[in-house]
Amino acid sequence: MKTATAIASPNIALAKYWGKREHGANLPAVSSLSVTLAGMSTTTTVLFDEGLDADVLVLDGAVADATSTARVAGLLDRVRAAAGLREHARVVSANDFPTASGLASSASAFAALAVAATAAAGLEVDATWQSDLARRTSVSAARSLFGGFVELRAGRGGDTHLAAEPVATPEHWPLRVVVAVTSEGRKSIGSTDGMLHTVLTSPYYPAWVASAPALFAHIREAILRRDFDALGPAVEQSALLMHAAAIAAAPGVLYWTPATVEVLHAVRRLRASGLAAYATIDAGPHVKVVTTPEHEAAIASALREVPGVLRTIETRVGPGPRVLTRGAEAKA
Ligand code: DP6
Repeated sequence: MKTATAIASPNIALAKYWGKREHGANLPAVSSLSVTLAGMSTTTTVLFDEGLDADVLVLDGAVADATSTARVAGLLDRVRAAAGLREHARVVSANDFPTASGLASSASAFAALAVAATAAAGLEVDATWQSDLARRTSVSAARSLFGGFVELRAGRGGDTHLAAEPVATPEHWPLRVVVAVTSEGRKSIGSTDGMLHTVLTSPYYPAWVASAPALFAHIREAILRRDFDALGPAVEQSALLMHAAAIAAAPGVLYWTPATVEVLHAVRRLRASGLAAYATIDAGPHVKVVTTPEHEAAIASALREVPGVLRTIETRVGPGPRVLTRGAEAKA
């Protein structure tokens, strides 16, 4: 049976990616650096079946819409081409956190899909190949093919291959990320559309691209030296620069809700009281607070008191994806 099940975790970018170099080749305009999270995951089963006349995607128990299915089919087409397969596939995927709400579900989704699809097709490929495969569908997903601290270099014109690379293992530095969940719904504008609109209309987009390389280098160095005081401010600045560029688009791309801003102020108060806390925000209303193991519990309980925060998810730096079952062991 051509089937496999894989599990992958989302990642949170400490140095953000926002904007593509050339729309079409899916190359990021800036380098990014993330931590792969333990404590949240996507589990995906792929079954290539000659009885199907199209790819089918079942997401969190329901048949997915045409747009999501087409994105999955694009990745499957590359796997079929590499493996010499013709069969369509049934893909069953489930997240243990809210889908498409800015909790980086596309990263874990396409990382799990890349691993499950290549294993189901019997392709003998490594994580670098799978990372490049995932990157072609969703740039941030390329980073979820590795555990720990992971970088993805900016694309250069003419690049045909671009994969993420591990920078340090999860054991290198036991950072914590506390997610302040502020909504359980779907986000208003997806990251692909939000960043394209920023590239095309924001007068601050060139300033973001110009300032990102120095921040990336600073963040990378702070991670290698395990220097929290150097890391934190740069992480927060990377997120605020990215969002400033998006907000300055015409019309502005605004992912923040009142609860997002409340959490940003709470994080400043926590820092003033002597706790290690720096915020980062992706293409959604949630705030992720980077902290140390000693301060994690105090920060999580303070964030739960902030108006508009529904709950917190405590995550740590975790491992990369893995195949759970393949072939006859798997039940699709
Ligand atoms: C804000 O990787 O979701 O999370 O490449 O179009 O799929 P596509 O976009 P996506 O963008 C993620 C943007 C971000 C920052 C980051 O993860 O680096």
